[in-house]
Amino acid sequence: MTQDDPVTSSIRIDRPQVPVSHGSLLQFPEDPIACMRRLQRTHGDLAVLEQDGQRLVFVFSPELNHRVLSDHQVFHSRFFAVRGSRHSAQRRVTAGLLSQNGAEHRDTRRLLKDVFSRRVLPGYHGTICRLTEELLENWQVGDVRDLNAEMVQFMLRMTGALLFGLDDAVFATQLGRLIDHWVHQNHEVGMGALVSAQEFHQKYEKLLETASRLEDSIRLLFERHRRESHESVNVLSLLFEAQASQHQLTDEQLTGHATLLFAAAHLTTAHTFSWTLFLLAQHPAVMERVRQELTDNVAGDRPTPEELERLTYLDQVIRESMRVLPASAYSQRITAAPVTLGSAHLPPGTPVIFSQYITHHREDIYEHPDRFIPERWDQINPTAYEYLPFGAGPRMCIGAPLALAEIRTALTLILRKCHFRIVPQSTINGQVISTMLGPTSTMPAILLERSEIPEVSPISGSIHSLVELPPGAALLSSRRAA
Ligand code: HEM
Repeated sequence: MTQDDPVTSSIRIDRPQVPVSHGSLLQFPEDPIACMRRLQRTHGDLAVLEQDGQRLVFVFSPELNHRVLSDHQVFHSRFFAVRGSRHSAQRRVTAGLLSQNGAEHRDTRRLLKDVFSRRVLPGYHGTICRLTEELLENWQVGDVRDLNAEMVQFMLRMTGALLFGLDDAVFATQLGRLIDHWVHQNHEVGMGALVSAQEFHQKYEKLLETASRLEDSIRLLFERHRRESHESVNVLSLLFEAQASQHQLTDEQLTGHATLLFAAAHLTTAHTFSWTLFLLAQHPAVMERVRQELTDNVAGDRPTPEELERLTYLDQVIRESMRVLPASAYSQRITAAPVTLGSAHLPPGTPVIFSQYITHHREDIYEHPDRFIPERWDQINPTAYEYLPFGAGPRMCIGAPLALAEIRTALTLILRKCHFRIVPQSTINGQVISTMLGPTSTMPAILLERSEIPEVSPISGSIHSLVELPPGAALLSSRRAA
């Protein structure tokens, strides 16, 4: 069997028949988008990948997304497949929202809702502006910057400050890198748990060690936070206030929430920044229109929240960037009870995967789905299950309003200072790692005067299999792969 021809039989999961692809389950984590595309092409909206009796079920349509994402009694979240033993650090650091279900999940959402409510959002504006201005202080026209590295570092700093009131860039970076490493290990071991192999046992031991170090760092963070005074609003202060007033939260529970919040917040937002800047650089006409909108609507050095509200084209750019290159490319649920999904009867314990990337690239929802066309948003109004960069239903991203405030504000400040041209002949690669679609290469860009509109740069790399770029963007050697 080749990877391009995965169907070897059609077996019953239960009546009626559902076609099953037999093949290594590990082809999915190795290249999730390529694997899901193959399955969708071969089987349509519902697909099953099976190895040695273990199955991954995939849903690709808005209707099935709706079913899986709205029925939280049956489709549970188990983001961290490996919870560790009852008294382990791994159990504690994985105790955040994404591991909770039922009433426990509902209660935590209620508690965290206040912390991320629109009422609190304006309190973050000053910090977002200040940190973006600090980033821009070091940027000079003519510099060549790796936008990917810059945005990851920027978001480590921003997330540390907004979530934890951390003004210590070194500590924020160390903590962020440790969390990324731990998330990645979880993903490797979680996928490994599906197939028994010696290397995964070794990885499991390493994961437990990382979880211990991570828990120590989070405890240190709590101690520092309680010792220091904080002028600006931050999520951890609000959580400590909730802890003091409601006596519901233990420090152990807070450890799980803090870990998850940091993990969920920083790379997703960094990737969204990188992709949006990249797409703008490769679409000069869009860059020009954004420049005009900023000139017409933003008066002072810092955009006010009211001015940001008026930037409707910039909003379409962000929306379109998150459609075509969604930082969260897929997520998963696990069945908690027997359930019929489309034509399949699934037993409890079946992993079910839905994908933002695949849904957002459906031709029956979006015309020319692989192209970046912000203007399309003048005409379309997709449902919550057709456009879901932040997920949908009861587990929809709790940090979405904060993420959008960060992206709108920082992009405005950045694009009022300079424009970018991707260095011609660069290789730009993108891949899904631990559910997140991000750049996996450098993204070198030349900083231009704001008055200068860049030319499209010819580039190579796997980016051409993810998005269709304008004429002139492909080196002859890098034709679209998919
Ligand atoms: C552009 C940035 C972001 C993207 C693309 C994103 C995407 C998502 C998605 C798709 C989900 C749903 C996952 C699922 O259904 O399995 C989610 C959940 C979540 N996100 Fe975000 N997110 C972003 C930023 C943030 C930020 C800034 C925070 C916190 C400050 C955050 C915290 C969370 C939490 C706690 C959950 C779990 C919600 C639950 O299980 O009830 N995210 N995010």
